[in-house]
Amino acid sequence: MGWGEGSGTKAPATRAFAHPDHVGCSAVSGEAMEIRIRHLTKVFEKGKRALNDVTLDIGSGMFGLLGPNGAGKTTLMRILATLMEPTSGEVWFNGLHLKKNRREIRAMTGYLPQEFHAFPNLRAWEFLDYVASLSGLKDPRKRKEAVDEMLEKVGLYEARDRFCNRLSGGMKRRLGIAQALIGNPKVIIVDEPTTGLDPEERIRFRNLLSEIARGDVIIILSTHIVGDISSTCGDMALLHRGEVVFKGSPEELIQMARGHAWRLEVSDDELEAIKLKYPVIVTIPSAGGWEVEIVAEELDSYAAEPVEPNLEHAYVYFMEYRLRESVVDFREGGIEEVAV
Ligand SMILES: Nc1ncnc2c1ncn2[C@@H]1O[C@H](COP(=O)(O)OP(=O)(O)O)[C@@H](O)[C@H]1O
Ligand SMILES: [Mg+2]
Repeated sequence: MGWGEGSGTKAPATRAFAHPDHVGCSAVSGEAMEIRIRHLTKVFEKGKRALNDVTLDIGSGMFGLLGPNGAGKTTLMRILATLMEPTSGEVWFNGLHLKKNRREIRAMTGYLPQEFHAFPNLRAWEFLDYVASLSGLKDPRKRKEAVDEMLEKVGLYEARDRFCNRLSGGMKRRLGIAQALIGNPKVIIVDEPTTGLDPEERIRFRNLLSEIARGDVIIILSTHIVGDISSTCGDMALLHRGEVVFKGSPEELIQMARGHAWRLEVSDDELEAIKLKYPVIVTIPSAGGWEVEIVAEELDSYAAEPVEPNLEHAYVYFMEYRLRESVVDFREGGIEEVAV
């Protein structure tokens, strides 16, 4: 698949694993991947608790990490990418321990940081060539093949001779994606990868990832946009204030919202009243006023028809009605008041 010469907005790019000790991906080839995270906590200086006792199992395929800004997604990803030390807790990549086997884990992991910066004075192909050599591709011929193939895949082949600082925002973003994928990593960590991509690029990127996810790899994708968690994510977690508040398939989250999503026709005045009472997911102007979709634990005194919830309904329903039950605030020691 290609990636047209589309433009995009600003987004800087760095393969975080510019490490001379890269040993290639052979450590686990052929093995099914599993990441085990146990009681992971990160407290920053001044006491900010960004992760609180996170325990997760992540298996092969695409894993969606969904949460509002500030939830702790980047912190978790930086820890998994060996760029930040947790305050406490343990992580294993198969039999490899995050702390004791840093080098091996780096060699098998590709990472696209939320803020990605390439080296400005390298051409696009030179930058990928450099990253590929760090990821263990020592044979120059094989490396050229891999670089060309990756440039083709992300639609940068025509722009391969451009200096990194001369690429458009969208192109830089794609270069960031390319550097995370080159060298056939077994674990791919992408932090808010669709930021700055236009809708068409977003779809292409999703297709590219799901293509890669068919191999025996783990892809962890973080986002604050529900629409980025597609059906290709077999498994997902909801992160909220540093805690995992939901873990399961998108379908399981949707299942919780069944019977709690509604469509109704309302007038202008009724719309205001509805907004105060229920989370409104969709508002469409209609002949008599507005057609709205809402989620509610129970719906009283409105003529409404039930609708099949999608992931967006399910996310809002969960945050609004189920979170209070599931999250115990670690600071207060009591039940958390949630502002969605
Ligand atoms: N270096 C840091 N020092 C102090 N607080 C931080 C630091 N990095 C992140 N935080 C805080 O930790 C929380 C989680 O941040 P982050 O992991 O970036 O969340 P997300 O990626 O989900 O938006 C936020 O409240 C953020 O302000
Ligand atoms: Mg982030």
